Amino acid sequence: MNTPAKNSVAGHAWKIEQALDLYQVEAWGKGYFSINEHGHLVIRPNTEATAEIDLYDVVQGLKARDLHTPVVIRFSDILAHRLRHLAEAFGAAIAENDYRNRYAAVFPIKVNQQRLVVEEIYRYGKQFGFGLEVGSKPELLAVMSITEDAPDRIIVCNGFKDASYIEAVILATKLGRTIIPVVENFEEIHLILGFAQTYGVRPRIGVRVKLASEGAGRWRESAGEKSKFGLFIGEILDLHALLKERDMLDCLQLVHCHPGSQLQDIRRVKDAINELAHVYAELKLMGAGLRYIDIGGGLGVDYDGSGTNFESSMNYTLNEYASDVVYRIKSVCDARAVPHPMIVSESGRAIAAYHSVLVFDTLGSSTLDRFKATGRPEEDYGGTEDLPAPVRDLFDGFRSVNERRLVECYHDALQAREQALQMFNLGYLSLEFRGLAERLYWATCTKIRDLCRKLDEIPEELENLEVMLSDIYFCNFSVFQSLPDSWAIGQLFPIMPIQRLGERPTRNAVLADITCDSDGKIDRFVHPRESKRTLELHELIAGEPYYLAAFLVGAYQETLGDLHNLFGDTHVVHIRLHDEGGWWIEEVVKGDTATKVLEYMEYDTDELRPGLARDCERAVREGRMTLAEAQAVKRFYDKELDGYAYLEVE
Ligand SMILES: Cc1ncc(COP(=O)(O)O)c(C=O)c1O
Repeated sequence: MNTPAKNSVAGHAWKIEQALDLYQVEAWGKGYFSINEHGHLVIRPNTEATAEIDLYDVVQGLKARDLHTPVVIRFSDILAHRLRHLAEAFGAAIAENDYRNRYAAVFPIKVNQQRLVVEEIYRYGKQFGFGLEVGSKPELLAVMSITEDAPDRIIVCNGFKDASYIEAVILATKLGRTIIPVVENFEEIHLILGFAQTYGVRPRIGVRVKLASEGAGRWRESAGEKSKFGLFIGEILDLHALLKERDMLDCLQLVHCHPGSQLQDIRRVKDAINELAHVYAELKLMGAGLRYIDIGGGLGVDYDGSGTNFESSMNYTLNEYASDVVYRIKSVCDARAVPHPMIVSESGRAIAAYHSVLVFDTLGSSTLDRFKATGRPEEDYGGTEDLPAPVRDLFDGFRSVNERRLVECYHDALQAREQALQMFNLGYLSLEFRGLAERLYWATCTKIRDLCRKLDEIPEELENLEVMLSDIYFCNFSVFQSLPDSWAIGQLFPIMPIQRLGERPTRNAVLADITCDSDGKIDRFVHPRESKRTLELHELIAGEPYYLAAFLVGAYQETLGDLHNLFGDTHVVHIRLHDEGGWWIEEVVKGDTATKVLEYMEYDTDELRPGLARDCERAVREGRMTLAEAQAVKRFYDKELDGYAYLEVE
């Protein structure tokens, strides 16, 4: 796969392996992503090099079909692989531990409620007997239609429930669904029992346990005594007594916990499962008909590839998770001599994250090291006026930069610039000299940075220079719409170019989106230790598109995204491997048009048009516009209302 590097810097050729290493592709990609001999990012849906999809090729193919970036590309085969991987990991753990029951995942649809995604998960999960989890009435309505005629697939119902939610659950039981409402607040049991009696149904009931073992990380409060949901042990005992009194103990079939999302540390998983298994065993011994133990979500995704307990990572593998879960439950059950329950997990992120990639184009860049100087006033400043003192100092400073005095030179430049600014603000420095001071300052910083790059160890005070001088690459997407967790909770997503990976990247940049919001930026990137503040990118070439992609965006991002600046949903396509090689497009969901996002905000475009038409007529009557121009304005308006909200760069 090593191609001769297209470019070389200081005589060192650049190899594709270096790009793999630089962007940590193998660490976070878990076999699903790599780079081919063309220097393009490739997708390996089955984690095998024998079947690859060239992402750059896909983007070109979509463009030829008028589907422009930004676009979310869902790789359905990855979704299928994730489900298989989960089933196999638990299958192996079950066999290894001689566990006498089976495992099923129920996909929590809140992680990605898009119909096509849920349907695919449901379809691919059939062979493993996987089900679905819902957390609200609308989610239940969606799932009730998808799970038609599938009595063996479990539906777990979490979240706050009112009477009609519970009535729907009881009716679904009557329809033949294996549907389990999980009691999260004690009052819900009365509703369940009431509707069960009304419709003559023997319901399956679950109960969410308020674990004492706290969760960890950002979602630590999903578990523990302060958690929003779940019953205290005392309440569970009351629930047990109530069911016993009604001779319905056999209906209590599932115990549930959710130790928090993105569990970074395997110890939290072990603690929670251990506690839940003991609750299961006790209730079982007290006569409850328990058949399922539902360990909730939390199985993490190693977004930064560090394999550590950082927030964007996890210090365990899927196999280790499965093995620990099965082992803990079995140990407790064996010690208490109760039967092994069926293990259910509500793994969301771990199923959905990998399969979606957001690809966006760059629109241009702004660079700070573009300020050049020679250090000779006659060349850098052609004027005849005497140079003000701080500007003279900046000239001297620029000329005297050398390897032995880097920190000192930096301090001098800082001070001179400050003095220049003070003089300007007091009216003693012209705009022209201020511009010259600015140029000399940045040129000096660039010179210092370039010398720092040659040092083995960079002085601490100059460590920030790279970040300070980093470029801004303007990118055609909205962070708020497409990567909301990056903005809201500082979630790291792997981001990298999808082409020119056989070339050494020579720029360090942060990314800015096209919203008019200074928060619409990305300035933290994955790195094996902590995170890095800039991303290595290639110099933009005029007239040549340069695409970047954000990976592992299939979980939570699509539904949490918002309409800031009225940037709506991007185009979405489903790409699959073709049996005869290559790829093909299975589904296309066009992104929001301007009309659609305006309608979300209660604008009626049929009412907007007449106002504009009247204005055009007025302009024609008053001679400000020709009729042809007025028609062109109206046509433009109509076209844009039907157009994509993102920038369409020719
Ligand atoms: C009750 C419940 N189950 C499952 C999940 C999914 O968690 P994850 O995506 O971490 O697997 C969540 C998410 O927070 C949840 O609240």
